[in-house]
Amino acid sequence: MTTVAQRKKALQQAGYNTFLLKSEDVYIDLLTDSGTSAMSDRQWAGMMLGDEAYAGSANFYHLEQVVRDIYGYKHMIPTHQGRGAENILSKVLIKKGDIIPGNMYFTTTRLHQELAGGRFEDIIINEAHDPENEFPFKGNVNLEKLEALIKKHGAKKIPYVSIATSVNMAGGQPISMKNLKDVRALTNKYGIRIIHDMTRVAENAYFIQQREKGYDKKSIASIVKEICSYTDGATMSAKKDALVNIGGFLAVNDWDVFEEARNMVVIYEGLHTYGGLAGRDMEAMAIGIGESVNDDHIKARIGQVIYLGEKMIEYEIPIVKPIGGHGIFVDAKKFLPHIPQDAFPAQTLAAEVYLDSGIRTMERGIVSAGRKANGENYYPKLELVRFTIPRRVYTQAHMDVIAESTQRVFEKRDRIKGMEMVYEPKYLRFFQAKFRKL
Ligand SMILES: Cc1ncc(COP(=O)(O)O)c(C=O)c1O
Repeated sequence: MTTVAQRKKALQQAGYNTFLLKSEDVYIDLLTDSGTSAMSDRQWAGMMLGDEAYAGSANFYHLEQVVRDIYGYKHMIPTHQGRGAENILSKVLIKKGDIIPGNMYFTTTRLHQELAGGRFEDIIINEAHDPENEFPFKGNVNLEKLEALIKKHGAKKIPYVSIATSVNMAGGQPISMKNLKDVRALTNKYGIRIIHDMTRVAENAYFIQQREKGYDKKSIASIVKEICSYTDGATMSAKKDALVNIGGFLAVNDWDVFEEARNMVVIYEGLHTYGGLAGRDMEAMAIGIGESVNDDHIKARIGQVIYLGEKMIEYEIPIVKPIGGHGIFVDAKKFLPHIPQDAFPAQTLAAEVYLDSGIRTMERGIVSAGRKANGENYYPKLELVRFTIPRRVYTQAHMDVIAESTQRVFEKRDRIKGMEMVYEPKYLRFFQAKFRKL
């Protein structure tokens, strides 16, 4: 624990960017659920079985089998994390001038699409952009928007439709099985692939089990497999659902795409049987994938997120509804309505929460959205602060502390002033930008 004076100094040194704080200055760390979950005893035991051969490690074959058994994808290439897979996939499939429709952007995913010469187009339903709307599947695709895009540009210009499960930037909101099946039918009609950002597929499966007709008696494992069956390939950041501190993969069914990606991975990651990972990392990932589809685990995990969300609602703190899978997303536009988006309300709020209690959260608004190719800022409708909950790390008591601290900041919200950006890196600026208080 730190004092207010210590946190004030740490914040100033970090340029009011929570990514630039030292972790030793943080009390409860909700920056991300990425790589921050606790590995199980079984995963740690698996680490001891690392086969660190340069080529053909036993752990690679174990992981490959698990990806086939649990997700159903035929071919798998390990990568150091999710963006490694995004880089290779984008380079293999996207040509200059291509359009990539997706159910809301994700920062690294969109940047790799752009760097490969493509342009992202948002095809998520409008409800996803409204924090108050309680539609149960705010990750759904607007099929009319998608079909209009295909008709406008032609199927040849669309290498794939990018479908995320548990849409991160919308607040961890799920896509329904029905909608996914409809997207499959539509893309089949035009001969277009679906590539699945499966980072939080098990969390999405939980919401399908809880909310969608016909799925309440089905296991998370069977729902996950069904989701994957409607897609042609996937990029995975195993640092979330799959409960590891580092790792990811690219999975595809198409042999030709696999062959090209397998060749590409040796340039950017490493040989195709380790892709930037140690054998022990692949073993932990193989075991973590199995644990991630355990019904009791996922119920407890999302149950904890819902516990925190309900506490926040009780305190009348404006959050994205319905409560999502991996964290609570506070609506900074409503929390600080007197701060214009150009003065970074979400960035400001994340700094204020840290100052109050040492809880570290993350901006998911105009800073994260970055700039368009022509240099103009994106102005996302959602201006959020993400309180992301690592898996198997914190207790309900921590959740109480988090809600109480946010309530204290809420009570003094009228006195909070915005910020200006004083340093802006070219790519993914939210990681390293610096700010000054107005
Ligand atoms: C939805 C989504 N896609 C892709 C990524 C990128 O994965 P990684 O951080 O492992 O590179 C992340 C995490 O940051 C994510 O949340």
